Amino acid sequence: MPQIRLDKYISERSDYTRSQIKNLAAKGKIIVDGIIVKKSDTKIDSDTASVEICGNAVSASKFRYLLLNKPDGYVSSTEENDGISVMQLIPPELRKKGMFPAGRLDKDSLGALLITDDGELAHRMLSPKSHVPKIYLVKLDRSFESKYIDIFAEGIVLSNGEKCLPAKVKAVENCDKLALIELHEGKYHQVKRMFAAVENHVERLMRITVGGLILPENLRFGECIELLHKDVENLFFPPDFEDFSTDFVGYFSAFMLNN
Ligand code: URA
Repeated sequence: MPQIRLDKYISERSDYTRSQIKNLAAKGKIIVDGIIVKKSDTKIDSDTASVEICGNAVSASKFRYLLLNKPDGYVSSTEENDGISVMQLIPPELRKKGMFPAGRLDKDSLGALLITDDGELAHRMLSPKSHVPKIYLVKLDRSFESKYIDIFAEGIVLSNGEKCLPAKVKAVENCDKLALIELHEGKYHQVKRMFAAVENHVERLMRITVGGLILPENLRFGECIELLHKDVENLFFPPDFEDFSTDFVGYFSAFMLNN
């Protein structure tokens, strides 16, 4: 029976602020399990409570969403066949049955990986139709060349003849071996194969964004943060790649250059 304050419960699942919730509760506008609750600091059972505010049901998010900063050497699957699963990195208090990594990063790739038990959301996110873009920071073996911008924008053909969707790429200011690339699809080893197709080589790869979910700078490798359902919806509101400042990735760039 996890007990939670009513105002916390509602604010995590809606756009109401705690002060709005306090006022609405005082006015008798909040009902928990069929009973008007006038004090917003009342503790409720977050697993079972049925909450209404102003006549509308508050969705009891059944799912858990974690954003992991994946370290090198872990596999993004629930199986342990090819190495240690990223699932081992989830602290016990955040573990939940049915969780899985929504999307894949190679064993040697780093960065943002969403882990959830919400299959419907994962499906929506990974579906080619939704085109959720992902931004990767790459460390290249050879200097970035401006010709990559047009080649990738046209949709590069990989060595096996597979054609990629148009992708955006730009160099990171003052670091000629670092670049940002935005993809709207997820072919096997895609970023590495795209740079191989222009005769370069990806030495390190870190995913910085998944849709509108941005890897927090203070999230260390192997650590994860829990996201609220309303934040996860940001997945579908990605930043504009053109506006995505390469300054922003300054911290990550420094790491990439030194590792
Ligand atoms: N592209 C790659 O090559 N590797 C990844 O892990 C993700 C995208």
